[in-house]
Amino acid sequence: MNVSLAQKLIKWSKSNYADLPWRRQRSLYTTLVSEIMLQQTTVSTVKPRFLSFIKKFPDISALACASEAEVLKAWEGLGYYSRARRLHFAAKKIDLMDGFPDTFEKLIEIKGIGKYTANAVLAIGMNKRALAIDANIERVLARYLGIYNYKGKCGEEIDKGFSSKKILDIDVNFRDLNESLMDLGRTYCKANKVNCIMCPLKENCLSLKENKELSTPQRLVKKKVIKEDLNILRVIYQRSNKYLFFKRPKGKWLQDQLELPSFIIANSKLKQYPLLKKFSVQELPHIESTITKYKIKNYILNTNSIKLDPKKSVWLSSDDFENHHLSSVTKKILNF
Ligand code: ADE
Repeated sequence: MNVSLAQKLIKWSKSNYADLPWRRQRSLYTTLVSEIMLQQTTVSTVKPRFLSFIKKFPDISALACASEAEVLKAWEGLGYYSRARRLHFAAKKIDLMDGFPDTFEKLIEIKGIGKYTANAVLAIGMNKRALAIDANIERVLARYLGIYNYKGKCGEEIDKGFSSKKILDIDVNFRDLNESLMDLGRTYCKANKVNCIMCPLKENCLSLKENKELSTPQRLVKKKVIKEDLNILRVIYQRSNKYLFFKRPKGKWLQDQLELPSFIIANSKLKQYPLLKKFSVQELPHIESTITKYKIKNYILNTNSIKLDPKKSVWLSSDDFENHHLSSVTKKILNF
């Protein structure tokens, strides 16, 4: 890409997408937060959550001092909660350092910061020569440069070409360059839909010339995953206006999330819960939910005869709900 083309691209992006909240309130901290939020999540979903997160934790120290429960709560609606834990971990490390780490090596050393985030902080936060290759940038540059490899496999070639200055042999504003490539990938150069007529890079786009824009990068045809059915009993146990919850164990899926006492029902019998042998689970009201590969029927039981390990038990009044990270299905069950 030559400079005038890069500048054309940047100009296009500036006049269309400069108004994103993390572009208005720029700091290394807000870049770290927004770039971790934007992995696997769309701009429109991130926008309001980014603003409330930054309001709650205005700087790296505020985030470092917060409890994990507070961070998970503020992450609600973004999903993939391991990212919230990674961000929290990174904030705690950085808060103890003398200033924000400013090289790829220093950033990548922090558990919780991967290659993409490190490059995004360097390029977008510090305007250094770096390319944050996410799926959007991979697709845009693979198409532009005619790299006809599989999705997820073009990054290496792009990375090499960028480092050796083959892809861009002269310095431009790297913050603007990264953001404008991301913007192009989100708008005119989507995976299944392109608007090449409007594209600022159309003159030199190799895949367009060769009529391969939509098939680049190549995609493996995924087998459709059939969701497995799962029946779970969710118990509502109330005492003195408080509800019983348990904390999911560390090291397990959805660790530390609070849940209503829940039991997997196998073959519609509930071995773990002898009381239920007396009547059919199927008669209970239920709501449906899905998570990863499971399609779940959540049967709801109101009872006050259940034993739980007191070490894992947490009692919350409904006023406390908003201070804790509860799953959306739990909220639905409790009408919260
Ligand atoms: N996707 C990932 N990072 C982004 C950013 N900074 N702006 C817009 N879209 C993005």
